[in-house]
Amino acid sequence: MYWTGILVTAIVAVFPSWVNGQQSGWIENQVNATMCAWKGLRTSQLKDTAYMDGGFLFWTPGFADGGYGVPEQDGNPLGIIYTLNFSMPFNSSTNISSIFNTISKAPNGGAANNLAPNYYDGAMLANDSEFFLYGGLLRNTIVYSPPDGDEVLSYQASDSGLVKPGFRPGFLNDKLPDGVTRYITYGGAANAPSENKAWYFGGYRSPSGGPVYQPSLNNSLNPLNVSNTLITLDISQASPKWSNTTLPNGIPSRANPSVVWVPVGEQGILVVLGGVSYPYYSTSAQVSLNEPQSRKDSPGYMANVDIYDIASGKWYQQTTIGAPPQLAMGCAVVATAQDSSSYNIYYYGGFDGLNEDQDFNDDVWVLSLPSFMWMKISSGDPEHARAGHQCLTPYPDQMVTIGGFRSSKGGGLNCLDGGILQVFNLTEGKWLTSYDPNSWNMYGVPEMIHLMIGGDYAGGATVTTPSPTGWADVGLGSVFATTYPASKIATSYPYSSQGPGNGTRGSWNNNSKGGGTPSWVAPVLGVVLGLVFLTAIAVAIMLYRRRSLLLKKNGGSENPPYDRHHRIRKWLNGTNEKAQTVTTEDPPSRYDDMESRNETPLRSIGYTSPSPIPEMAQYEMPENQRPFELMGE
Ligand SMILES: *[C@@H]1O[C@H](CO)[C@@H](O)[C@H](O)[C@H]1NC(C)=O
Ligand SMILES: *[C@@H]1O[C@H](CO)[C@@H](O)[C@H](O)[C@H]1NC(C)=O
Ligand SMILES: *[C@@H]1O[C@H](CO)[C@@H](O)[C@H](O)[C@H]1NC(C)=O
Ligand SMILES: *[C@@H]1O[C@H](CO)[C@@H](O)[C@H](O)[C@H]1NC(C)=O
Ligand SMILES: *[C@@H]1O[C@H](CO)[C@@H](O)[C@H](O)[C@H]1NC(C)=O
Ligand SMILES: *[C@@H]1O[C@H](CO)[C@@H](O)[C@H](O)[C@H]1NC(C)=O
Ligand SMILES: *[C@@H]1O[C@H](CO)[C@@H](O)[C@H](O)[C@H]1NC(C)=O
Ligand SMILES: *[C@@H]1O[C@H](CO)[C@@H](O)[C@H](O)[C@H]1NC(C)=O
Ligand SMILES: *[C@@H]1O[C@H](CO)[C@@H](O)[C@H](O)[C@H]1NC(C)=O
Ligand SMILES: *[C@@H]1O[C@H](CO)[C@@H](O)[C@H](O)[C@H]1NC(C)=O
Ligand SMILES: *[C@@H]1O[C@H](CO)[C@@H](O)[C@H](O)[C@H]1NC(C)=O
Repeated sequence: MYWTGILVTAIVAVFPSWVNGQQSGWIENQVNATMCAWKGLRTSQLKDTAYMDGGFLFWTPGFADGGYGVPEQDGNPLGIIYTLNFSMPFNSSTNISSIFNTISKAPNGGAANNLAPNYYDGAMLANDSEFFLYGGLLRNTIVYSPPDGDEVLSYQASDSGLVKPGFRPGFLNDKLPDGVTRYITYGGAANAPSENKAWYFGGYRSPSGGPVYQPSLNNSLNPLNVSNTLITLDISQASPKWSNTTLPNGIPSRANPSVVWVPVGEQGILVVLGGVSYPYYSTSAQVSLNEPQSRKDSPGYMANVDIYDIASGKWYQQTTIGAPPQLAMGCAVVATAQDSSSYNIYYYGGFDGLNEDQDFNDDVWVLSLPSFMWMKISSGDPEHARAGHQCLTPYPDQMVTIGGFRSSKGGGLNCLDGGILQVFNLTEGKWLTSYDPNSWNMYGVPEMIHLMIGGDYAGGATVTTPSPTGWADVGLGSVFATTYPASKIATSYPYSSQGPGNGTRGSWNNNSKGGGTPSWVAPVLGVVLGLVFLTAIAVAIMLYRRRSLLLKKNGGSENPPYDRHHRIRKWLNGTNEKAQTVTTEDPPSRYDDMESRNETPLRSIGYTSPSPIPEMAQYEMPENQRPFELMGE
């Protein structure tokens, strides 16, 4: 334990150079560094590029003797924002930090200090050419004074489309107007570039409503009180317009819900999913202030979704069926059927917000609108699960998840299984092992969903109202009856490839078993709905078994129709060979990929943190190698 302490200190002392990806300044005998986990970051996609800011980014040092050090995070003293250009192919053996680019929030790439300190959580509110860094938690330090409550940093990545000579990307310091503060965190953010608007729903504030910090011993500065607000950023005019409205009664604020913008109605709607009340992570003791109440409230945040119609400013709440359990800190994206007959919201990951040491969620759930039916389309493996990550959809059929952290089950900080980036095929409902800018397709409604709502991959849903409950409010029905002008939505795919990849565009298998007019849907609906829960369970088992089968068969008997599929099967194949050589009762996990690329997983080299790295340790690290004290201690 003593030695661990020394190691941690040593790593912290030299950390700034890692962040820069430089070789100098590493600790003795260190030969490389690998991104391990990234908790509470904020991201958004502007045109062809993902921007990633803030949070706690943990790195694992590799040493010349083949060993690995304890993963640590340094609080990003250089104010680095990472970017990922979706022209860049990657796969499970790619060194992810080598395909990220960086931009520095600090002047001349020096120390960021209080000009651009590192925020945990908060949001990146964006349109297609600029973003605003809003909310989130700083570490409380007396080394320097923090930015004011009305300060917000924005970044102009490109001009509005017309390439003006002389334009340079860069940061701007903006001021929030009276009545809006940055002292808020744990809210849910959504961007609608086609409307030039973005939102921050709910979240937590300090009891005073003033400064709020990463949880410390002084509760008066901890994010303990819910904020019953919806913050709106409107950048359709030359100068950004911020506004702050109070949520009506019956629309519950909470911590870390997911919010998505869905293209229905005149200006679209926001759909708020999940989140918890009284999360353990808002206190320094890391204990929920009211766990029983959280268990009572939180499942309802998934079962009854809150909907905001942007054009009218009205809130609605609609009951769903077959909802997942309470989950916070997951991520959500929307995929629209090609004929707009359904809008499928994918929710991945997260956990109950109460226990960091229990299994996290690795399932992918879909809430299909306007039927408001949930279906679990992918059953996961707790080892691969994550929370505090973000997801983006570079292509209509693909979701990329970025960052996150793992359950501390078993003790200590565990690196993400499979790595910082994961790719999910939204049409197929399956995880992919690679991303290739040349390999994509239009979105198809997954079979499991179109069997439930009618129609086929191309759309044609026949369940077009919430079933079986009907509309909670006729007003919401008419919002859904109004078509959003899809022509407003700009896309930036396909991306030119920066790599050697040569994928092939496939097409979905359109001979849906539920195709045509599924006349059985209406009469048997009741039965079907009753079976939803059973099905979900059956499917869970089936998928799990099928996954194992796939791994065993290696696709040997099946001739994959496309190169890309072939490649993926080869990956699975490789995984399997590895799995067979490992005598273990564990199901094959993505660790096997790591082993096959000589990156010994932490687990298998017997890495267990002598004692779990306490959350507080992260707040107590010296920042920029200067001494500091927590205020009030
Ligand atoms: C990954 O690439 C970065 C930047 O090129 C490098 O600093 C780092 O050591 C590499 N990590 C590994 C595990 O090779
Ligand atoms: C990183 O260092 C470890 C430990 O020396 C080594 O096993 C591993 O192969 C290295 N990874 C890369 C990508 O060089
Ligand atoms: C992303 O990569 C492509 C291809 O190299 C390039 O044309 C584009 O400018 C890059 N985007 C950004 C924001 O740098
Ligand atoms: C995986 O990506 C690396 C570059 O990141 C590339 O060298 C390698 O060929 C890729 N592997 C496969 C199987 O595509
Ligand atoms: C994003 O907002 C800014 C600020 O209003 C505006 O100048 C720019 O044109 C917008 N970008 C796009 C792609 O519409
Ligand atoms: C929203 O407005 C209320 C009332 O003016 C104010 O007390 C609160 O601080 C504001 N919230 C945020 C997050 O700006
Ligand atoms: C925050 O919550 C505490 C305890 O419930 C309450 O006493 C206090 O008034 C709240 N603060 C605000 C600004 O509402
Ligand atoms: C990509 O692969 C296809 C099929 O294997 C081949 O016909 C084509 O020439 C390849 N394209 C490039 C740019 O390598
Ligand atoms: C996703 O799955 C669909 C259906 O199997 C396929 O057509 C499409 O090419 C896949 N996309 C990728 C990127 O693998
Ligand atoms: C799928 O089938 C429907 C009719 O059943 C047709 O309208 C649609 O164009 C087909 N889509 C594709 C991609 O083949
Ligand atoms: C907690 O912080 C508040 C606000 O900075 C301060 O007024 C108070 O004295 C602190 N409490 C303790 C016990 O240090």
